[in-house]
Amino acid sequence: MDRHNPQTMPPANSLNVAIIGCGGITLQNHLPGLALCPDVKVVALCDSDASTLERARQQTGVTITSTRHEDIMKREDVHAVIIATPNFTHAPIALDAIAHGKHVLCEKPLALNHADVKEMAEAADRAGVRHLTAFTYRFVPAMRYLAHLIQRGELGQPYHFRSCRLQDWGTRPLGWRQVRKLAGTGELGDMLSHRIDFAHLLVGPMKRLVANLKQWHPLRSGQPNDLDDWVAILAEFQNGATGVLESSKLASGRNESWRSLDYVEINGSERSFVFITGEWNKLQTGKVGGPGLETIEVPREFWKLPGAPRDSSQGDPLVTFRYDQAWEFVDAIRNQRPCIPSFHEGARAQAVMDAAVKSAESRSWVDVE
Ligand SMILES: NC(=O)c1ccc[n+]([C@@H]2O[C@H](COP(=O)([O-])OP(=O)(O)OC[C@H]3O[C@@H](n4cnc5c(N)ncnc54)[C@H](O)[C@@H]3O)[C@@H](O)[C@H]2O)c1
Repeated sequence: MDRHNPQTMPPANSLNVAIIGCGGITLQNHLPGLALCPDVKVVALCDSDASTLERARQQTGVTITSTRHEDIMKREDVHAVIIATPNFTHAPIALDAIAHGKHVLCEKPLALNHADVKEMAEAADRAGVRHLTAFTYRFVPAMRYLAHLIQRGELGQPYHFRSCRLQDWGTRPLGWRQVRKLAGTGELGDMLSHRIDFAHLLVGPMKRLVANLKQWHPLRSGQPNDLDDWVAILAEFQNGATGVLESSKLASGRNESWRSLDYVEINGSERSFVFITGEWNKLQTGKVGGPGLETIEVPREFWKLPGAPRDSSQGDPLVTFRYDQAWEFVDAIRNQRPCIPSFHEGARAQAVMDAAVKSAESRSWVDVE
């Protein structure tokens, strides 16, 4: 086999990356993020759809292309891959990449169930490759600053975690995102997975939960939709804190993406903090017994990931924070350290998603694996 061992590879000067899946998120996020990283080259592209592949080839000038990921994984001149395909393909493509010794950045949700994600994480550890789960919103400066303040003890004992993601997607068609066998879950995996990861980052692991999922529209523009448009979880964390997480595609009039509500509040024995994705360089906070919340600025050193090549004064900060994710991947490969967040964080979130589905089906509390 054309296998190379990443553990014996010197920290590469020139790192060659292949992209598997050349759709929306690759164009919006992965390609611009990689373009900022010095001595990193996108050398190969793969998309199962020939016209999407051709468009990406013309846009990037990358000449090695294939509609089959197997062709890309065999190449010795590819050191790392980014997997940005529909959810059901993540596990087989990632396992193939790992078997060929490639470092892997994989989109969220990592797979359709926890057993598959666990297999991916264990295989990647055994192979000694770097692995990153694309929980992109961890890279929002205000989220990184909030995690830092909590780690420093400013919150005190965590009491409550609360998140609310409200978007207005109406009944428009969502392609593979509205088909269970391709996406796994709807709003749960698509949007709430990021907020489950926030909860783990800020509070720690969840212990048990009760959840509900609701599908309002069995058709989206005439196409069958068999997935949830809304999800809510009531959770208990291992440290005793409580969690309430809600996410909807049907919050009419709320707009979409960063123009819509993405709210996280955390209450502890010393303070409360409020994070809103749209307010990338601000937090609100209030001290126990104080007069209410005040706004604080995120210090400049948190405006980008330490060492990231991005100029934080350039571009729309609600878009450009995402580019730090590519840097995290590249820097971890070069320094032979674990990526944050790795597949293990992806697995932890997937265990919660599996428990949420089980809870909604059984209409009961479920322990998180
Ligand atoms: N981290 C984030 O914030 C974020 C944001 C958007 C999407 N995503 C995730 O990224 C992934 C892709 O989402 P998208 O919006 O770019 O979807 P998309 O439909 O725009 O693009 C997916 C591409 O993958 C191609 N594809 C399908 N099967 C393939 C295969 N077996 N091999 C190669 N290519 C294949 C499709 O032809 C398509 O071009 C999903 O897992 C999604 O959840 C994450």
